[in-house]
Amino acid sequence: MRFLKNKNPDIRRMSDLREVLFDKEWAEKAEDFDAYYMYRGVDERDNLRYDITVIPFNMFGSEFPKTKGHYHPQGYGEIYTVLKGKAIYLIQTVSDVYAIYANKGDVAVIPPGSGHITINPGEGELVMANWVSPEFSSDYGPIIEKEGGCYFYTKEGWVRNENYENSPELRFEDPRREIPDDVGFLYNT
Ligand SMILES: [Fe+2]
Repeated sequence: MRFLKNKNPDIRRMSDLREVLFDKEWAEKAEDFDAYYMYRGVDERDNLRYDITVIPFNMFGSEFPKTKGHYHPQGYGEIYTVLKGKAIYLIQTVSDVYAIYANKGDVAVIPPGSGHITINPGEGELVMANWVSPEFSSDYGPIIEKEGGCYFYTKEGWVRNENYENSPELRFEDPRREIPDDVGFLYNT
């Protein structure tokens, strides 16, 4: 992307995600590759950081491409917009788990304190942007501990992650078309 020409992305390799993948047998044997690219701090406004993430369409065996996934601390949310391709945002708390299917121009709101994973279910590259506070560190621990999110999105459809005891039934929410007016949660207010 032209406007990212001079930015060096943080690169997540497939090997960085091995422990959270559905198809571990495949991951053990597969040759490593770039799983996704994170361009952090492309812009900054009102103490919010604008990042761009590029997820090429490289399957993890039978599982669709995805981010590793992390939790935010209470008080900090996030807003994603799809710039190119398709995305599924899997959002989870202890008592709830839901997926938002988003296309170009759609918006997904990540509530404070929730875990979230982005999946690329299309056949091409996914490019998305997010606005987020730079004041906290993402917590990858709980997703790593459970070896993935509550559900995996595979060629066979959604598969429950058995490492979660009594995980809620997966439900679905529509994306938004606009960023909501009330984004106070992004600032921990
Ligand atoms: Fe996040």
